[in-house]
Amino acid sequence: MTTPLRRRQMLGLGLAGLGTAVGASSLWDWQQRNASRSQPVGAARLVSRGGAADLELVAQATRGTLPGGPAELLTYNGRLSGPLLEVRAGDRVRLRLRNELNQPTNLHFHGLHIPPTGAGDNVFLSVPPGGSSTYTFTIAKDHPAGLFYLHPHRHGLSADQVFGGLGSALLVRGDLDGIPEVAAASETVLVLKDFASASGQETAMGMGRMLGREGPLLTVNGELNPGLAIPSGGLLRLRLLNASNARIYRLALEGHRMVLIATDGGAIATPESLDELLLAPGERADVLVQGNQTPGTYRLLNMPYQRSGHMGMTAAEEGPRTLAILNYAGSVATLPLPKTLIPVPALPQPERTRRFSLAHAMGMGMGGMQHGMGGMGAGGMGFVINGQSFDPDRIDTRVALGSTEDWLIVNDDVMDHPFHLHINPFQVISRDGRPEAQRRWKDTVLVRAGEEVGLRVSFRDFPGRTVYHCHNLDHEDLGLMGVLQIE
Ligand code: C2O
Ligand code: CU
Ligand code: CU
Repeated sequence: MTTPLRRRQMLGLGLAGLGTAVGASSLWDWQQRNASRSQPVGAARLVSRGGAADLELVAQATRGTLPGGPAELLTYNGRLSGPLLEVRAGDRVRLRLRNELNQPTNLHFHGLHIPPTGAGDNVFLSVPPGGSSTYTFTIAKDHPAGLFYLHPHRHGLSADQVFGGLGSALLVRGDLDGIPEVAAASETVLVLKDFASASGQETAMGMGRMLGREGPLLTVNGELNPGLAIPSGGLLRLRLLNASNARIYRLALEGHRMVLIATDGGAIATPESLDELLLAPGERADVLVQGNQTPGTYRLLNMPYQRSGHMGMTAAEEGPRTLAILNYAGSVATLPLPKTLIPVPALPQPERTRRFSLAHAMGMGMGGMQHGMGGMGAGGMGFVINGQSFDPDRIDTRVALGSTEDWLIVNDDVMDHPFHLHINPFQVISRDGRPEAQRRWKDTVLVRAGEEVGLRVSFRDFPGRTVYHCHNLDHEDLGLMGVLQIE
């Protein structure tokens, strides 16, 4: 994998199967060229100033053109993959969401440790078409620095809206950013998001909602195969967010190792060098890449991954796909990797243990469907946690504020389920009974078909009602979600 490839080959591979020769230009260009109504494109980056962030996101549908024909794309502020929001630990955030869609939506601040109630990270709010809502909260001074994720969370419509394009990356600046070796690196946020092709055929061909929809257009920050520059001797900090509806990325960078410095919720204690990185929907990773290879061009690849035990349930076998292209440009005196980062303390011993079994179910009443727009009535298929489909009016789990618990997430299904908990980060403590080697802050963990993952979580600071669910958002919309009351 160390041979630099010529550009034409890379693009051909990156777009294999689309039958359209397209270079590395943005989908937005296609949109703009073909827009039926002209509209301004919002700023690429919205940044807080002087301890306060005053932000506005407009959720809107935009007629555009994808390779293969016209399509309707959903955006925040007219930007595919959203503007990048950037705040600091300690900031007061005020974010107005305006809903210009023809259906209800809302916002979720995935991974932030903020109140789940009121105008905070309240996913039970619904903003009607034409309406708006202002979210306000303070990010604690000691909030870990990290890459978080803003996306719609209106039950029954989450998958449609995320798959349609909605979502934004949210950077919280703080502790990790101050480590000198990390600060010296040049930084790029990479939002990984797949889109349906214009025909939408793949969704009709077996990649339906039960498995979770994937699209054949693999974009990075709304672009196909963008270039990433690295000087010889330099350090590149790649901040990766899987903002796709269902696709699990298995990432590899030709000729280079990726040195992991942070997971979902913040820094790890010691950097870990990786050949490959698996990133499920909702997960983030922060990696350093050293410009220590022969100057040239190297591909960031998505390697094949089977997320269902049932062959034939996933799309036709896919080879490696090109996501982005790393180009050497110039050189600098060699920058060192950090040796240590930020300690991840052990959580207290748990006060109790719970078990959550994830499965699919056939022919149920499907409680979740009555509240959503899933279009699957009784007799359809859906997903359950401990035998029950999501019901916003039922509290499934009550925990004491300030307590610590161990949760065993048991995947009794033939499909992978990335399990996600709102508001409080957790630490994975075991996989199939084997203790986990490293402590890390996580909020989303991939639980493979048949696997059992143990996690430990302390419910700190914020009482209120929130949720845990599968982050394959089609699964969430089809019932794989539970209500948590912290009291
Ligand atoms: Cu990113 Cu409840 O989800
Ligand atoms: Cu979340
Ligand atoms: Cu799932």
